[in-house]
Amino acid sequence: MTGAVKKAELHCHIEGAASAALVKAQARKYNADVSGFISGDSYIWSDFTEFLAAYDGAASLFRDEKDYALLARSYLEGIAAENAIYAEIFVSPDHAIAGGLSPSAYFDGLAEGIAEAKASTGIECRMIIVGVRHLGAEKVEAAAQLASTRPHPLITGFGMAGEERFGKVADFARAFDIARDAGLGLTIHAGELAGPESVRDALDLVRPARIGHGVRAIEDEALVRRIAADNVVLEVCPGSNLALNLYPDMSRHPFDRLLRAGVKVTLSSDDPPHFGSSIGREYRMAAETWGYTAAQLTSITRTSIEAAFVDEPTRAILLGQLD
Ligand code: HPA
Ligand code: ZN
Repeated sequence: MTGAVKKAELHCHIEGAASAALVKAQARKYNADVSGFISGDSYIWSDFTEFLAAYDGAASLFRDEKDYALLARSYLEGIAAENAIYAEIFVSPDHAIAGGLSPSAYFDGLAEGIAEAKASTGIECRMIIVGVRHLGAEKVEAAAQLASTRPHPLITGFGMAGEERFGKVADFARAFDIARDAGLGLTIHAGELAGPESVRDALDLVRPARIGHGVRAIEDEALVRRIAADNVVLEVCPGSNLALNLYPDMSRHPFDRLLRAGVKVTLSSDDPPHFGSSIGREYRMAAETWGYTAAQLTSITRTSIEAAFVDEPTRAILLGQLD
């Protein structure tokens, strides 16, 4: 039933979308050893710090435009096969630079893969530049500065990923001011590994349209009411939350409680192969846990498209695909 539902995802880190098989092929190409973070066809890590190391290890094997074109195309064609019509990917200039690639070559390579996937499947995609929180405020501001120059037409937003427990939101407020002044859509990771206070700080200091995760807002009733009243959209990634042991199983996940409280919740896969997930699985798990009908699932997709960092003509076309 969920397979035919049109889907969208707003929260996926592109390097985190590389399948273990693809990363192993890249390792053969560059004669590198991935045994520290891949076993068989699976990533191996046991906590968030190890996950970030696996993420960086995989990212280091994408080194030129063609590598990134292949990565974007593989990911997008994969989710198009699950009936995704739209995706936003987090792109990280810091990871490009670490791999020896200029940010502009990185964006061009990704854009090439996006164009190829659009040609083969029709899927639309936009890019959100992220700064990496645990690299510090200076690096995050540099990423915001780069984003503010609008380095590629498919780049429509700015966000911050990385270790939520590093520093304070206030340290990064300037980066978001730079991106806001440039008219970019804003999103920030908060309320996954850090508690509800991180979500409140994000609302106060960053004023984002969307929050990455935000699920731990459920621990504070007044905060849930504020998120609902302010129409802030949550990019909820249940598979990621379960893999990181925030909740023991889906029945305890707050997605449905947030939805019922009037919060605009959406579904995404975050770093799908690391968490054994995909956008299709996220929709399927939600349907199986809370009994959502196809119409209810489609309304979740509608919320995503309404919150997408995309131009209005494209948004109208995408919404039309949901009727
Ligand atoms: N969470 C936070 N930061 C990240 C992630 C994630 O899942 N993936 C890459 N950077
Ligand atoms: Zn994320």
